[in-house]
Amino acid sequence: MSIPTATREDQFSFGMWTVNWPAQDQFGTGTRVIMDPVYIVHKLAEIGAWGITFHDDDLVPFGTDEAGRDKIIADFKKALDETGIVCEMVTTNTFSHPVFKDGAFTSNDRQVRRYGLRKVLRNVDLSAYLGASTFVMWGGREGAEYDSSKDYNAALSRYAEGIDTVASYIKSKKYDMRIAIEPKPNEPRGDIMLPTVGHAIAFIDQLENSDIIGLNPEVGHEQMACLNYTYGIAQALWCGKLFHIDLNGQKSIKYDQDLVFGHGDLMSAFGTVDLLENGFPNGGPRYTGPRHFDYKPSRTEDEQGVWDSAKANMTMYLMLRERAKSFRADPEVQELLKTVGVIGLAEPTLAPGETVESFMADRSTYEDVDPDALAERGYGFVRLNQIATEHLLGARS
Ligand code: GCO
Ligand code: MN
Ligand code: MN
Repeated sequence: MSIPTATREDQFSFGMWTVNWPAQDQFGTGTRVIMDPVYIVHKLAEIGAWGITFHDDDLVPFGTDEAGRDKIIADFKKALDETGIVCEMVTTNTFSHPVFKDGAFTSNDRQVRRYGLRKVLRNVDLSAYLGASTFVMWGGREGAEYDSSKDYNAALSRYAEGIDTVASYIKSKKYDMRIAIEPKPNEPRGDIMLPTVGHAIAFIDQLENSDIIGLNPEVGHEQMACLNYTYGIAQALWCGKLFHIDLNGQKSIKYDQDLVFGHGDLMSAFGTVDLLENGFPNGGPRYTGPRHFDYKPSRTEDEQGVWDSAKANMTMYLMLRERAKSFRADPEVQELLKTVGVIGLAEPTLAPGETVESFMADRSTYEDVDPDALAERGYGFVRLNQIATEHLLGARS
């Protein structure tokens, strides 16, 4: 396999905060200088990206006056028009400024909640102006360090109130936009509300405007909670809620590493790309949105390293896509999918028209069954996984 190059058709997009992270951390200052948003748009176009996303404050520094804001937005819009880079998603920073130290929508201070909601609503208008179809909400400070500091029942109600207010505003303005909630278990708060895909799905079900509210799951966030990302996005797809994705790399349960996609758990990344590109083996809902990267160029890298790492995300994805295609096209795999039962799983357990009564009267399903004989079957999953790994490593083509 030769090293693939990204093109616009691949729909790769990057958060402005990823390539523009100055690399400060808890223990040291930044190691890189902040770049101009216009320059970033041009560089992304140059390396074959299709889209860009940003937090309000990434584009317009917090506290900029109206005239300054208008100028920055106009320059950014011009760069988008010149390059054809799409602004597909916008998100709001409700975590950096000290005012949000106890959260925005769920802060114990009502005035902070009202301020946070206004900041988000103002940003919805900017997103619509730039043509973004997804509005991500990551409530990084919506959480606590100590259980005694939060009434979680009230906090969930305030969280729901905030998100429903934004959704009804989007509807009232007739914006062609959907909200995508991004779960994360912890960091920066000791515990963050809506910690996993599962928690967020259950929460969305309780909302009034759930029709336009879905998910933006991130690889590393699920893996920080020791969960399987591919399964997480599968369940989001199953209930029609996979609105957007954040791809990156994570090595086990630690701080949010934000490595290049595939530089963490490679086998899991293969499973993810296999699902995104090939869909479920028996068909079903598909993800058609952008392939969005939310990673951080490591603190050791200079500007060249920033663009090299951005390209690495796309190259990793494309190589995994090629490997996942070869896996699915392998006749031995097609056969094994049948023999191990993956294909048979699509067949309903009850026969068409079968009632519970007739099912219970069918002795062949229970009374006449010898469970020990039924248990003798070997499934052959290891063989299938070995072949997947052989494709991943290029030993099969
Ligand atoms: C993180 C998050 C963020 C969000 C972003 C979009 O852990 O820092 O992943 O990068 O994705 O704020 O809302
Ligand atoms: Mn993250
Ligand atoms: Mn993210």
